[in-house]
Amino acid sequence: MELRGKKVIVTGGVRGLGRSMVDSLIAKEAVITVFDLNAAGLGDLSAEQPGVHCVECDVSNYDEVVKATTRYHEEFGATDVLINNAGILYSEPLVRISGSGVEMHDPATWNKVLAADLNSVFYMTSCVVAKMITTRTRGVIVNISSVSAGGNPGQSAYSAAKAGVNALTAVWAKELGPMGIRVIAVAPGFTETDSTKEALSEGVLRETTRRVPLRRLGKPEEIAHGVISVLENDFFNGKVFELDGGLIV
Ligand SMILES: NC(=O)c1ccc[n+]([C@@H]2O[C@H](COP(=O)([O-])OP(=O)(O)OC[C@H]3O[C@@H](n4cnc5c(N)ncnc54)[C@H](O)[C@@H]3O)[C@@H](O)[C@H]2O)c1
Repeated sequence: MELRGKKVIVTGGVRGLGRSMVDSLIAKEAVITVFDLNAAGLGDLSAEQPGVHCVECDVSNYDEVVKATTRYHEEFGATDVLINNAGILYSEPLVRISGSGVEMHDPATWNKVLAADLNSVFYMTSCVVAKMITTRTRGVIVNISSVSAGGNPGQSAYSAAKAGVNALTAVWAKELGPMGIRVIAVAPGFTETDSTKEALSEGVLRETTRRVPLRRLGKPEEIAHGVISVLENDFFNGKVFELDGGLIV
């Protein structure tokens, strides 16, 4: 796919990996719209990059997604590329043994992580693909997964959500391929972002870095480069592109 002039939605594009994807897409002269729930961040992005369209939307809320995508399609006609990047990194073990007994994983946070990291992908993709089909757009869906999809101890909800994202990628690639729509997942390993620093202690980060054959974390621009590569290669479909410095080999 030639990205110049293509209409691209990036969810969670205000900061972190999403912001890096936005910068790479600007360099490719795509027509970019960011869906994010961070209103202040959207304001800053809009001031810095006036060419980027900013939409306040909680992508884990179905009604908001329907409203925002409907308005988007009224303005832009269709979507060529959807990057489902918005999500939250969250760690909590199934049970924690403390002085006062055994503490169980909070079901409310389980639901919150599944809503942000998995339901959002289903909501956004169904709304965007319905329009792709009625407008005969041969588009691309890129789902941002994680190497944690393989099962990371201490991350029940996050790992389950990302494994779900990988499964949906395979299902949709098979369902939508005959209509010329590609569906891809990009699974970063541990990357230098604020969310990584917020979610993992310094000790865990040091230990994780030691396990990476390259002995370093990924850079957001390296993940964005991977997203651009799979978008541009028209034969890449249905697969999970792992970008983890060799962590999982
Ligand atoms: N940082 C890493 O090391 C890493 C590794 C593997 C996978 N990932 C995945 O990459 C994606 C981006 O992660 P990041 O590290 O850049 O996170 P981040 O917290 O830096 O950025 C996430 C962005 O998504 C937005 N967002 C979150 N929930 C939202 C919602 N419900 N609706 C709309 N916007 C929402 C936030 O406002 C923020 O702008 C996530 O899906 C994450 O699981 C990150």
